[in-house]
Amino acid sequence: MIILGIAGSLRAGSYNRGLLDAAAELAPEAMEIRVWDGLRDVPHYEAALDTDERRPATVVELKRAIAAADGLLIATPEYNYSIPGVLKNAIDWASRPGYKSELVGKPAAIMGASGGAAGTARAQIHLREVMYSTLARVMPHPGLLVGGAAAKFTDGRLTDEPTRAFLVDFLGTFAAYVRQQAPR
Ligand SMILES: Cc1cc2nc3c(=O)[nH]c(=O)nc-3n(C[C@H](O)[C@H](O)[C@H](O)COP(=O)(O)O)c2cc1C
Repeated sequence: MIILGIAGSLRAGSYNRGLLDAAAELAPEAMEIRVWDGLRDVPHYEAALDTDERRPATVVELKRAIAAADGLLIATPEYNYSIPGVLKNAIDWASRPGYKSELVGKPAAIMGASGGAAGTARAQIHLREVMYSTLARVMPHPGLLVGGAAAKFTDGRLTDEPTRAFLVDFLGTFAAYVRQQAPR
């Protein structure tokens, strides 16, 4: 099972990148999480560039990676109670053509880390809505919320043992969900 991992942050030492790296490390044996590193290079969405002749190479790469994956795992920061613009922008590119893109029917799980107590709860609600609009199949799970991240990461690495244990459970649930959603 191949899972494409996307962290919605460009920050060096990002908690969300650390969370995604921990997921890749702790994934069940049947699951391989491939972390996508192209977010920084995605230009602002522009319809005139969204053609087979002009589509930016990073976007082509993202769409291919989504098509090749059995599911998506997105780690989102919370910016002003929502998701960062860079992440929304990449999803917008990936979502075209509307209702016919590589995201249609793709199982997806959402998680996130922030310094605040709410641990990206508000951003995750928004991300869920955005992903619903793409017709991705978002896992109906309370999600993985990592609040107070400063105390749970050391030099960008997730070191908090209870959170690591919760992540293992979360990934097991996601693996079962991806299997359940697979075409028979
Ligand atoms: C523009 C901006 C807005 C933010 N808004 C929120 C917020 O609404 N809620 C929250 O918990 N943290 C907020 N933060 C703090 C981020 O959660 C924190 O910077 C976090 O480390 C970002 O994730 P990262 O470490 O993966 O980059 C905000 C940060 C920025 C830069």
